[in-house]
Amino acid sequence: MVVIAVANQKGGVGKTTITRELSACCALRGYQVLSVDCDPQGNLTQSWVKSDLYEGTLAHVLIEPEAQPGQRREPLSLFDTIVETPVKNLDLVPCDIRLARFEQQPEYLMHRLKKQLLEHAHGYDLVFIDCPPQLGKLLTAALYSAHFVLIPCAADAMGLQGLADLSHTIEQVRSNVNADLKTLGVVVNLYKPTRNLSAESRAAIEDVLPMVNYVFDTNIHDYAKIAEAPSQQLPVVLYSEEHRSADLFWGFTDEILDRLKLSRQKLSAVR
Ligand SMILES: Nc1ncnc2c1ncn2[C@@H]1O[C@H](COP(=O)(O)OP(=O)(O)O)[C@@H](O)[C@H]1O
Ligand SMILES: [Mg+2]
Repeated sequence: MVVIAVANQKGGVGKTTITRELSACCALRGYQVLSVDCDPQGNLTQSWVKSDLYEGTLAHVLIEPEAQPGQRREPLSLFDTIVETPVKNLDLVPCDIRLARFEQQPEYLMHRLKKQLLEHAHGYDLVFIDCPPQLGKLLTAALYSAHFVLIPCAADAMGLQGLADLSHTIEQVRSNVNADLKTLGVVVNLYKPTRNLSAESRAAIEDVLPMVNYVFDTNIHDYAKIAEAPSQQLPVVLYSEEHRSADLFWGFTDEILDRLKLSRQKLSAVR
């Protein structure tokens, strides 16, 4: 089991999109994949399953239930919240706005996500965690649990803002509790080849390379198909197989699997 947190405290840079599409591509390549929705906005969850298809959420796992007579006293196990997605080999731990209360919970609950993943997700090859857009307890809990952090950045003038703060948070987690946490790299998203700004911001990202370790060769372009796929509950590689956006995500998946030293197709896979 390899755990990858997809993180950037800026909203709208493509954390959810990249978590979703990368999880689906790896699943279609034959890996057993679990996507964990760790953003109380629940965008990842909504992109795969309707709310009447699940009851337990990540909030029920991570937050102590109120000990009231007649009410459930034990938190749920992660296993009890896992649901299937329309993509073969891809499961999901859903969440919704109730997870926002985690930010007010005591420090000791920070380790619960990691413990639960170790106990209940060891059967998965890859676990991707979609992180919330703030430097809070949920992000820290995700980084405690992860082997790698993958950072999507928007290709715009502000794209690099906050990268230093994120690096600082990663450093803190590394020195306090998770010395093994590695940066997998930065992926440039919302790339518009016709804009000089995109090329310039790519160059600027390379300037901060020492901080981010690695920038993936694949630029994820700004394509309407990528934004549309969730409404059809399909990954973009199936929603628009012939479109350039599918090539981009397959290429990006190759790069990710190469960096993780995993084969580009899981050998036991039957497609
Ligand atoms: N490469 C892309 N091309 C087109 N639309 C994109 C792309 N990446 C993200 N989006 C859209 O931009 C919005 C924000 O992306 P999202 O993945 O939700 O960001 P975050 O999770 O970082 O807040 C969403 O509406 C999403 O569909
Ligand atoms: Mg998101």
